[in-house]
Amino acid sequence: MHPSQHAPSFHTRITDLFGIRHPLLLGGMHILGESGLVAAVVNAGGMGFITARSFPSPDALRADLRRCHALTGGQPFGVNITLARRADANAAAQDWIRVALQEGVRHFESAGGPPGELVGPIQQGGGILIHKCPSVRHALSAERCGVDAVALVGMEEGGHPGANPLPTFVNGAHALQSVSVPLVLGGGIGTGRQIAAALALGADGVVMGSRFMVAAETAAHDALKRRIIASGVNGSITIMDSLSDTWRVLDNAAAREVRRLEASGVRRHADFGDLILSSRTREKVYRDGDVEAGIVSLGPAGGFADDIHPAGWIVERLIGDAVEATRSLGQRLVALP
Ligand SMILES: Cc1cc2nc3c(=O)[nH]c(=O)nc-3n(C[C@H](O)[C@H](O)[C@H](O)COP(=O)(O)O)c2cc1C
Repeated sequence: MHPSQHAPSFHTRITDLFGIRHPLLLGGMHILGESGLVAAVVNAGGMGFITARSFPSPDALRADLRRCHALTGGQPFGVNITLARRADANAAAQDWIRVALQEGVRHFESAGGPPGELVGPIQQGGGILIHKCPSVRHALSAERCGVDAVALVGMEEGGHPGANPLPTFVNGAHALQSVSVPLVLGGGIGTGRQIAAALALGADGVVMGSRFMVAAETAAHDALKRRIIASGVNGSITIMDSLSDTWRVLDNAAAREVRRLEASGVRRHADFGDLILSSRTREKVYRDGDVEAGIVSLGPAGGFADDIHPAGWIVERLIGDAVEATRSLGQRLVALP
């Protein structure tokens, strides 16, 4: 039995929907969201999503799903289906869903575009879908498409927070006035206190990414993890705003070069060349630890880490701190004379 099996946690519509102990989801993470990291979060009582688009073929995805099954001892885990902005680039999405369902996966996270064409195949296959989006308008439209839950992210989100200018807690408070399906919040969440605050707001859970960039299991060079830890909460900036494709990333030499090109008038993705598109620069950063060489998705939440720890340790710490924060909030309640 896991040591934290009897530790207190939170019961929400999301823990019921996903059958998990803690209302904590690890969102899809391009390149990094594979079986090692996802299984560690699942084994600690959260839910994680293997990121389908990171794999070169459906068979490579299938192999990693099998690895994850072995690592979790059969406990359920999820698959992230990130859609491209161009609809014609999304042919692979149905293959990813088919392979995942064949391999027994029933939990899906979608992002990047409207989930309409995913809902049918997933639900008819016995699965559930949480759709991640940046605005209340998108959340309501996903709800109308029939998704089972919504993840709403604020502008603090590491990766692609969309054109939404609102921070997580404003976005969340707004959404809670109108969204009916279970709702999780994400973007900038890197401490247990913030999880307690999201639950106090009325959310059913949180979705996280950046804080897990420095987990021991994350397949990134230790030099990158150390750089993220050293950068603190001010270590991210946004790029590509001028192309209406806002991307929140580690503030490094590559990101500053992208900003310089934007300031000089560059407006087409292709014209940023290797800086944003190449798997070679990506490998330099993630595999070789050349932390200035390429763009790294990252939000301020990564800066809450103070060391490299196993993902299970991070989950326990986050939930333990959230419980503590909730208790101390309860103790502040007084009946005024
Ligand atoms: C390195 C990295 C890669 C990501 N890649 C994806 C992705 O491929 N698909 C996706 O839906 N979300 C992706 N995200 C977003 C996360 O799933 C999650 O929504 C986000 O990290 C939450 O905000 P936070 O970073 O402030 O915790 C990525 C985030 C990071 C940090």
